[in-house]
Amino acid sequence: MAEDAVKKPSGEQWGSRIGVILAVAGSAVGLGNFLRFPGQAAQNGGGAFMLPYFISLLVLGIPLCWAEWTMGRFAGTRGFNSAPGVFAVSGRSPKARYFSVFALLIPLVIYMYYIVIEAWCLGYAFHYAKGTLMLGADAEKYTAFFDGFVGAKENGWIFGEGKQLLLFIAITFVFNFVLIYRGVANGIEAFCKFAMPVMVICALCVLVRVLTLDGQERSVSQGLGFMWNPDYSALKDPKTWLAASGQIFFSLSVGFGVIINYASYLSKKDDVVLSGLTACGMNEFFEVCLGGLITLPAAFIFLGASVATFGTFGLGFNALPNVFAQMPAGQLFGFLWFGMLFLAAITSSLSMLQPVIAFFEEGFGMNRTGSSLLLGTLALLGSSFVVYFSEGLKALDTFDFWVGTFLIFVLAMIQSIIYGWFFGIERGEREAHHGAYLRIPRFVQYMLKYVVPLYLGVIFVMFCLNNLRDSVDEAGVVTEGYVTKIKNDPIAFNSMIFIGGVAALLLVMVHIAGVRWAKEGRFEAALNDN
Ligand code: ALA
Repeated sequence: MAEDAVKKPSGEQWGSRIGVILAVAGSAVGLGNFLRFPGQAAQNGGGAFMLPYFISLLVLGIPLCWAEWTMGRFAGTRGFNSAPGVFAVSGRSPKARYFSVFALLIPLVIYMYYIVIEAWCLGYAFHYAKGTLMLGADAEKYTAFFDGFVGAKENGWIFGEGKQLLLFIAITFVFNFVLIYRGVANGIEAFCKFAMPVMVICALCVLVRVLTLDGQERSVSQGLGFMWNPDYSALKDPKTWLAASGQIFFSLSVGFGVIINYASYLSKKDDVVLSGLTACGMNEFFEVCLGGLITLPAAFIFLGASVATFGTFGLGFNALPNVFAQMPAGQLFGFLWFGMLFLAAITSSLSMLQPVIAFFEEGFGMNRTGSSLLLGTLALLGSSFVVYFSEGLKALDTFDFWVGTFLIFVLAMIQSIIYGWFFGIERGEREAHHGAYLRIPRFVQYMLKYVVPLYLGVIFVMFCLNNLRDSVDEAGVVTEGYVTKIKNDPIAFNSMIFIGGVAALLLVMVHIAGVRWAKEGRFEAALNDN
């Protein structure tokens, strides 16, 4: 019985080694690399941001990424692909599955708003193709275009006068679900194999254009200096360190519940060490070399230092279109840029669907049609909520803060504790090296056990102190913390209720799935298989 119980694979597996690496890298490379990263760097000391950024990459990002690959494959070879199974097997107890709610909630809720931004990118690419985004050098026109396109001035706008966006959302939604329906190898892997090289080509074209701009008021080297010259005083501010680690998690898709799921489709003889490192390396290439050299330097060359205050969306959807309008062949480069962002976003949003699909199928015996329909309904509800409450992008901001930032820290912390203290670093080291093309230095295991949870704990406390409470700056200006925002703003409050409702639903589902697995003897079989 135990034998049968272990061998209940989903039947899904990756087609090739390069395919899985591109899929994981595709999950990592997304809007975070091209929009979030330059915005974060600009607001946190420019070049000085890179110090905490690389420390976070080395101390948190890469070690946790290896831990996720290792636990995912370990559980996968014991018959589990979904987070509740992976957590139960890695945490060495069926009860550990309850913590996996975060690993389902995070990809699902991020998907709900991420595809809305994905649809903005598609819409902008379309408007470049048509020429309707070449609005001259007047900054206000771009702000007005953006506000109208996304409905930033009025709730419900998109379902009324602004309904053009609905078409782009529908296309984006259907495209994601068609690919996910085709499965891990034929859908995700096949698409990432096509999209990743295309993205590199498009981004390189835009990069060459930006680096060869001349005759402007500000030079290219001034643009690069603006992004990269360090303001070391930022290092004294805890905010810089928090922003850096938050960026690493978001960007690598670590603490997302994605890598544990993707790695579960590997076999014991597949390498996870070099693959994990390669995927991280690719992400850093896209982020630092492409995102870091294009977005902010280009914006600075044309618009000056004020772009540092634009914020992520302001930079991506107001400043850059203004820049493209002013550069030679800007319409073509604008199209390439937003087309590339759209592809980058799809390879990431796909990775947010698969963990939840895997859970519905594994936990409730659904087929692909049933799981896609259920997930599609949930995702549609959430995306409609975000799109409806578009005024000031408040619903999107609340989802992004609580799930896309706060809960990612929480999940990363839980995973590091499970790996270091329950899965165990001895087992971790042994498991990681099955089929490995590279050895993980031994000290990394100790880092995972002691340093990572401690580092994360400190960051987490600082993060809460910085963001949850109201703050007053030197000039006496009060900035509302996220707790006050929930109290005072009905949209933020309702967004929290929505997130709580989805979490409660998933918790009940995780419980029921676990009861089923226990009855079938699947936990027992997997836990006895050391
Ligand atoms: N890792 C994905 C991104 O950076 C979510 O956009």
